[in-house]
Amino acid sequence: MDSRSLVMHQAMLADRTRLRAYDDALAKVVRPGDVVVDVGAGLLVLGMMALRHGAGHVYAIEGDPVTAAVAARIADDNGLSGKLTVIRGDARAVDLPEQANVIVAELMGNIGPEEEMPEILAAVAKRVLAPGGRVVPERLTTTLTAIEFDDEGWGIWSGDSLGYRLDVVQEHAEPTAHLHFFQRLPTKLSAAVPIGDSLLGVTPHGVSTSPRKLRITRPGTLHAVMGSFTATLAPGITLSNFPSYPGSNWGVWIWPLQHTRVDVGDVLRAQVHLPEGVRVATDWRLDCGIARRELS
Ligand SMILES: C[S@@+](CC[C@H](N)C(=O)[O-])C[C@H]1O[C@@H](n2cnc3c(N)ncnc32)[C@H](O)[C@@H]1O
Repeated sequence: MDSRSLVMHQAMLADRTRLRAYDDALAKVVRPGDVVVDVGAGLLVLGMMALRHGAGHVYAIEGDPVTAAVAARIADDNGLSGKLTVIRGDARAVDLPEQANVIVAELMGNIGPEEEMPEILAAVAKRVLAPGGRVVPERLTTTLTAIEFDDEGWGIWSGDSLGYRLDVVQEHAEPTAHLHFFQRLPTKLSAAVPIGDSLLGVTPHGVSTSPRKLRITRPGTLHAVMGSFTATLAPGITLSNFPSYPGSNWGVWIWPLQHTRVDVGDVLRAQVHLPEGVRVATDWRLDCGIARRELS
C-alpha cells in the first residue's frame, strides 16, 4: 500500500462523524441474515459494521489490488473469513454467488459524484440487488451556493485586508475550482441550488451542465461559488461536507470570483462545464453572470 493511499484510508477512518453516520444508517437498514455488498470496501470498516448489525454474509469488493490484499489480511486477523468474502475487482463487473439485500458504499467525492458513485452503484444494483433491496446511501445531491468569506480564503484579497490593497489579485481568478477546508464558516448569500440529484442504485445522474439561478437572499460581497454534497444514508440520516465538521476528510470546491457587491433580489447565473472524461472538479469550469434585481 503506498503512503498516499495509506494516509487516505487513515483520514477516512479518523473521520468519526462519517463512521457514526454509516453505523447509524446500517443499524436502521440491515436486517438479520441479510447478504450485504460493500462496494469499494477499502479496509472493510463498512462491511464489519454491517456484520455487527446482523448481516449473514458480506461480499467486500475492492478494485485496488494492494488494498484488497490488506483487506483480506484484516478479515483473517479478525476471524471473519466465514462471514466476509473479499473480492478483488471492479465492482461494476463482479458476479456474486447470490443476490444481495443491501449495497453499502462510500464513494462520495468532494462535490459528490466525481468518484462515479451514481454510475457504479446503478451498475452493481442491476447485477446483484434482489427485488426490494436497499442501498446505503440512498441519495446523493450536489449543490452550488453563493458565498462571502471573511479574511479566510478568497476573502483575504479585499481592498483593505491586512492594511494594504491586494485586490489586484482578484483579476487573476480562474474559472476553475480549488479544494477548500474551512476553519470558519463563510456567509451564505444564496440558498444551495441543486445541480445533481441521484437516487443511488437507480439513476446514474451526474452533475447537470445547464445554467442555474442563484438568487441572492442576503446583501453582501460575493466572493465565490461553493460546490458541496449531501448524501442521505438512510431516512433521517444525512452526511454533508458543508457545514464542515471537525475531523472531516472532505473539503468543498470553491470557484473564486471578482469580489462584487450584491443585494437581495440579484440573481447569479452559474453554469458548470465538465470537460469530456474529466472526473476531478479541479478542471470543471464555472461560467457566471449577474442580473440585478431580476423579478421572479
Ligand atoms: C472512499 S474509499 C472508501 C473505503 C471504505 N469503504 C471506507 O468507507 O472506509 C473508496 C474505495 O473504493 C475503491 N473503489 C473505487 N472504485 C471502485 C470500483 N469501481 N470497484 C471496486 N472498488 C472501487 C477504492 O480503491 C477505495 O479503496
